Amino acid sequence: MTARILNGNELAADLRSEAAWDTAELFANTGVRPGLAAVLVGDDPASSVYVRNKCRACDEAGIFSETFQLPADATQRELTALINSLNANRAFHGILVQLPLPGHLNETDAIERIDPRKDVDGLHPISQGRMLQGQPTFLPCTPAGVQQVLLRSGYDPAGQHVVIVGRSNIVGKPLAALLMQRSPGGNATVTVCHTRTRDLPDITRQADILIAAMGVPRAIGAEMVRPGAVVIDVGINRVDDPSRRRGYRLVGDIDFEPVAAKAEAITPVPGGIGPMTVAMLINNTLHAARLSAA
Ligand code: GUN
Repeated sequence: MTARILNGNELAADLRSEAAWDTAELFANTGVRPGLAAVLVGDDPASSVYVRNKCRACDEAGIFSETFQLPADATQRELTALINSLNANRAFHGILVQLPLPGHLNETDAIERIDPRKDVDGLHPISQGRMLQGQPTFLPCTPAGVQQVLLRSGYDPAGQHVVIVGRSNIVGKPLAALLMQRSPGGNATVTVCHTRTRDLPDITRQADILIAAMGVPRAIGAEMVRPGAVVIDVGINRVDDPSRRRGYRLVGDIDFEPVAAKAEAITPVPGGIGPMTVAMLINNTLHAARLSAA
């Protein structure tokens, strides 16, 4: 078997063009143009690329965006002051603090500082708590992107055994909460695996839908996958590759070729979940602007 490739670029382009229509309609009806403030601290090259991609996608969807950059040695106090000023700035309906922050800064404090009405990344404890309880809220972008890839490719998680490898606050934990909800796109039986899981391959082989989100390059090999499984790769890892001009290439947490030979469907890296994360951010920013105009 050769797996069907789930093309995140195409699915995300559909979502973003739907958002562009809705943004134009919101502006025509209310005069409100959605605005996103992106906060980037330091000079991590991957984070800079992600933020640039997010702002470019905003532009294309008719959403105003601005990047606020702080130096790598910025203090917590400076970061707090910036977030406070963005909370009060009516031009911005959404605020995104790109993670990871430099090690001396407290990420929890930064995220909790964001006004929950502007938490378009869905990472504030209020957003995550509301999601856990099945209340309307901003969904975290990567988990929401995974759910949309599944639904829009015809793989409804309802009744399926979903195995998630990874328990981060950005992906693994909220994704488990999202897919177990009693609501459309949910109703899965979810198992979460992590570094202390015994007999990991025994569990991953039970997955109808296997989701890798632990950030370890090519850690999931074909022997860990049931024939016919749907495989979602959330990992984006840079590995050295002297044959490339940049000196590196991107690989996921899945060992792509051997797993693709065995799976029913698989997301590639790059071009899988990454663009979906951006599309969900656009969606959330539009939603925040709508709520502010209501
Ligand atoms: N770093 C990696 N993924 C994300 C994300 O979805 N949002 C933010 N803010 N930072 C990230």
